[in-house]
Order: sequence, then structure tokens, then C-alpha cells
Amino acid sequence: GLKKIWHTQHTGIFLFLYPQVFYLMMSWPEPRKHWFPPPRPASEYVSEPNDWDSLSQELTNLTNLLYWPPTDGNRDDFLASTSPKTSTYRLKGPAQSSYTLGSNLEAILVARDHQGRPKTHGGDLFRAKLLGRELKAGVPGEVKDLENGTYLLSFPLLWAGWAQVQVRLIHSSEAVGVLQRIWRGKRATVDFRGYFRGRNGTQETVICNVDPQSTGAKGPTCQYRDVVSGEDWFCAQPSTLPCDALVGHSSGSYLNVTTPHDEDLLAGNVTDQPLASGISPILVKPAATGNLRNVALLSRPPCRPGHLSPKPSGFYHRDRWHSTFCSSRSFPTVDSILNCLAGRIVYMMGDSTLRQWWEYLRDTVPSLKPVDLHVTYQAGPLMAVDTTRGTVLHWRAHGWPLRSLRTPVASLHSVARELHGLAGGPSTVVVLGMGAHFTTFRPSIIARRLAGIRAAVKALLDREPSTLVVIKLANTGYKSVYGSDWLTLQVNRFLRAAFVGLQVAFVDAWEMTSSLDLPDYIHPKTLIVRNEVELFLSFVCPT
Ligand SMILES: *[C@@H]1O[C@H](CO)[C@@H](O)[C@H](O)[C@H]1NC(C)=O
Ligand SMILES: *[C@@H]1O[C@H](CO)[C@@H](O)[C@H](O)[C@H]1NC(C)=O
Ligand SMILES: *[C@@H]1O[C@H](CO)[C@@H](O)[C@H](O)[C@H]1NC(C)=O
Ligand SMILES: *[C@@H]1O[C@H](CO)[C@@H](O)[C@H](O)[C@H]1NC(C)=O
Ligand SMILES: *[C@@H]1O[C@H](CO)[C@@H](O)[C@H](O)[C@H]1NC(C)=O
Repeated sequence: GLKKIWHTQHTGIFLFLYPQVFYLMMSWPEPRKHWFPPPRPASEYVSEPNDWDSLSQELTNLTNLLYWPPTDGNRDDFLASTSPKTSTYRLKGPAQSSYTLGSNLEAILVARDHQGRPKTHGGDLFRAKLLGRELKAGVPGEVKDLENGTYLLSFPLLWAGWAQVQVRLIHSSEAVGVLQRIWRGKRATVDFRGYFRGRNGTQETVICNVDPQSTGAKGPTCQYRDVVSGEDWFCAQPSTLPCDALVGHSSGSYLNVTTPHDEDLLAGNVTDQPLASGISPILVKPAATGNLRNVALLSRPPCRPGHLSPKPSGFYHRDRWHSTFCSSRSFPTVDSILNCLAGRIVYMMGDSTLRQWWEYLRDTVPSLKPVDLHVTYQAGPLMAVDTTRGTVLHWRAHGWPLRSLRTPVASLHSVARELHGLAGGPSTVVVLGMGAHFTTFRPSIIARRLAGIRAAVKALLDREPSTLVVIKLANTGYKSVYGSDWLTLQVNRFLRAAFVGLQVAFVDAWEMTSSLDLPDYIHPKTLIVRNEVELFLSFVCPT
């Protein structure tokens, strides 16, 4: 696992910091032959008859979990799809000269098609925000789909001052219908490359994917199963080299999965477009008394794992994210961050949006020195160490199906397997941040992966309940058939459901990237990353 690889390169550091790790490594050698088991012919691979049935029973009811209002309209008529130009919203009640801090602002949105006809079904993906530009404030609004072409928008008024509603159509319901059809119907919308190398230097490159069918193989396939986590990976069998000669991995192609009509519905000029402003800026009065007269923050408990976060889970005010359910702290100085992380080993496992946390801490805290591990940058592992404070910060990519430049297969580790290899304890902090690389496969792939990770997190918390586990939800960003906010919303539903009932903390990066007057970037700006990291640190150091 993680430590074993580093052990070979940095025995000195590890012996110095973790004699117990060395002991474990000696007494518990890696079961190598299981990591690359003898490949089985693909005919032996039986795909589950029903993907839902194969999932961990602890995942909640998926029919409920993936509910989305029916989106069908006239499938072939672009002009009948929802248009951001003709859809409108207005206040639900009469306008007031000022509003009370802590109350709600409600609005009604009427969706219309390109010819101005009101829609009669729901399923559009709208995003609503309330913005206080002068105060650098913002909060995500709730969008309730009434499933008859109208939507109820609701905004909590959490700061005193001016506030302005902003609504965007992310995808029409017809575009959502396309995404839904492809997500459930196609096994994969991208493929990967597997690089094989023989002892005599022969090289072969083949297509690999999450299931044998998606490798495009006419003949046999190689199956790679991690026996600890049960995760599978498949490559077309190379013509001359054996399956165990697989050494490298990279992303491959984006597959053509759309028709020209689908493309129209997902085109840039109808995707992520603002609706004409339907509500004048409103003025929220400060509270008459209290020392928090300008923000609606009641006393909140310290940030601890196990909270079910409400919606919204927080809001921005003067560029700072305030949690609505726990007393999130700010870490304004390098010392405050260092004091919080002193004596902790932080294991970050996930995608590049989580790597941004590692990079933020590396760049913000000069004494947190990156260790040059001489490995490919994209998949990691990365490590930063402050030896005087006893802080170690790891990041590594989650394993397959990572889209990356060519990376050694040996450096792609299963998250579940890594978790099974952690002793845990009060100094261990685990952060998981996955999602963006799972939108290109049907839902069973993320569901199965999370079932294994849930089991591993549960086992970790059972053996060492003092271990802190933090889940970073996936953030907003892409708007295409391969990665779209609609797909990410579904992935986030899985992430929440997967950890229900476990003492884990969530950082709702979705809301944190949906609350400001900024374009959606898959790699959010430093301002947002800083707030994500500060919320994370609030769980590490609640008081
Ligand atoms: C899951 O939810 C659906 C829809 O509410 C319901 O019909 C079904 O019975 C539920 N299944 C289980 C196993 O609870
Ligand atoms: C849509 O449904 C809501 C809630 O049921 C109802 O109040 C509203 O009148 C309906 N609007 C239309 C246009 O049918
Ligand atoms: C290297 O090994 C492969 C497979 O064993 C074989 O097909 C190939 O001819 C060999 N190449 C050379 C240059 O010996
Ligand atoms: C993708 O496939 C569709 C048919 O499903 C075809 O109409 C379209 O031209 C293809 N696009 C490209 C770029 O090959
Ligand atoms: C969107 O752009 C395409 C060309 O890229 C154009 O044909 C279409 O009419 C535009 N649609 C709208 C609603 O502006």
C-alpha cells in the first residue's frame, strides 16, 4: 500500500517518524500475487444481473436516491426545450421595502420553451443564488421542482445589507434527459489506455475500462481485481504480452455517445445561461440587538463529524464561508494552521480538486516542506512534512478510473485498500474527495466503489473511533456529456448516502462553489479552496 511504496524510497524518513509502520511492514508482507492475480478469461466474468442488487445493503434505496422528475417532452423538437431567454421568475409575495434578517425570500420561476410556451413538466436544472456583491456575500438558493413547469425558489436571508437574486439555467430538462439516458444506458463514455511492457522491452498499448465490453476487445480481456476492495479493471489482452505485463495507465478517448440533436440540447448557448433578472435588489435590515447584528448566525456547536448538514450548509460573508450548523473557524495565520495540524498525519485520497487542498496548504505554510518523491505528478503520491511540528500531509489520487497522463499502474492505489491499511487513531485524519472521474460511467460503478469504501471507513472507525474522516463532496464545473453538474449532483447523492450513519464530516464543496458570482471551474479559485480547507481544519480543531 501507500506506506510500503514510500518505504522503499524513504526508509529513513519513515523509520524516523513511524517505527510502528516499519514493524507492520515486516510482519505483514504485501500479498503481491493478489494484487495482480492470474488473469481470468473474460467469459468467466459474469456481470451482475441487476446492478442495484449487487450493492451493499447499507446504501439507501437507490430508486429514491436517484429520483429526478420525468423530463420527457417532445424529444425531437429543439424549440420545445426549455429556454433561458423566455423562462422568468418573480417574487412570490408582494415586494417589501426591507426584509428581516433570518427570514426567507421566496420566488416563483416559470419555465418556458424557445417559443415562449410554458412548460408543463419539470426536470430542468436551474441554479439560484442570492448575492451580496458589496459584502462579498452569497448563498445557494433552494430550487424546488413542482413538476408542472414551475419552480419554487427559496433564499435564506443570512446577512444584513443588499442582496440580489441570480438564476441560471444549467441544463434544460431535455438536456437532462440526454444525460440521464447516456448515464444509465452507456457503460462508459470515455476509455483508457493500458501500457504493457515485456521483459525484452516489447511494448503494447491497448484499451482499458471499467468493464470488459468497454475495452473494445474482440478477443479475450485481462481482468485486474483488487481482492481486498473487490474493485475490477479490464484491458483488452495484448496480442503478444501476458496480462501481468501491464505497467502504465492513462486516459484515452472521449467516445461519441451523442446524436446531433443531443448536441443541440447541450450546446453552449443554452447551457449555464442566466435568466433575465426578475427581482430588484432587496435590502435586509440588521437585527435590532445582539453582537451578530449583521449575520444570522445563532450559537452553533463545534464542528464535529456525524452532523447531517442542512441546506444551505453555509454562506459567504466578506469572502468567508460560515457554516450554518457548526461554528466553523477561520485560520488567518500560518501559526494557526500549524497549531491545528501539529502531530497529525493527514491522508488525502481523491482527485485533483482535493490535490488543491494539499497545494493550498503547501503554498500557505512555508514550514510544510514538500518531499520530492520523484513520481509522476498527476497521480502522486505527494507528501509535505513539518518535522518540528510533527505534521505529515499526504495526497494521492484515487485509483482507477483516473483520467490522467501516463502514470505507473503500481502508483494507482485503491482507496478502500489504503483505508484497510491505516491503523487510525487521534492523530490520523483521512480526507476523501472523489466524484469528478466517476461521471463517465453508469451509476453502478460509483455505487459499488462507494460500497467498498464505506465498508473500509466503517472498519477504520470501528477499530479507532478517534480517527477523523472527512468527505469532500464534488464541486461544480463541467457542463458536458462527460462531466456535467447534473451528473455531479447524482454522484454527490451517492456520496452522502454512502456515509449515512457513520461519524464522518462533510465539506460541501458543491455549495461552496455555487454561492458566489464566479464562473464554475472544476478547479475552483484559491478563495474557495481556502474556505474549503478552513472548514476542514474546523473539523480537525473544532475549538
Ligand atoms: C425504494 O423506493 C421506491 C420508491 O419510493 C419504493 O417503491 C421501493 O419499494 C423502495 N425499495 C425498498 C427496498 O425499500
Ligand atoms: C404547479 O403546481 C403547484 C403546486 O402543486 C401549484 O400551486 C401551481 O398552481 C401549479 N402551476 C401550474 C401552472 O399548473
Ligand atoms: C519479445 O517478447 C515477445 C513476447 O514474449 C515476442 O513476441 C517478441 O518477438 C520478443 N521480441 C524480441 C525483439 O525478442
Ligand atoms: C456521433 O454519432 C452519431 C450517431 O449516433 C452521428 O450522427 C455523429 O455524426 C457522430 N459524431 C461524430 C463526431 O462522429
Ligand atoms: C445556438 O447556436 C447554434 C450554432 O452553434 C445555432 O444554430 C442555434 O440557433 C443557437 N440556439 C440558440 C437558442 O441561440
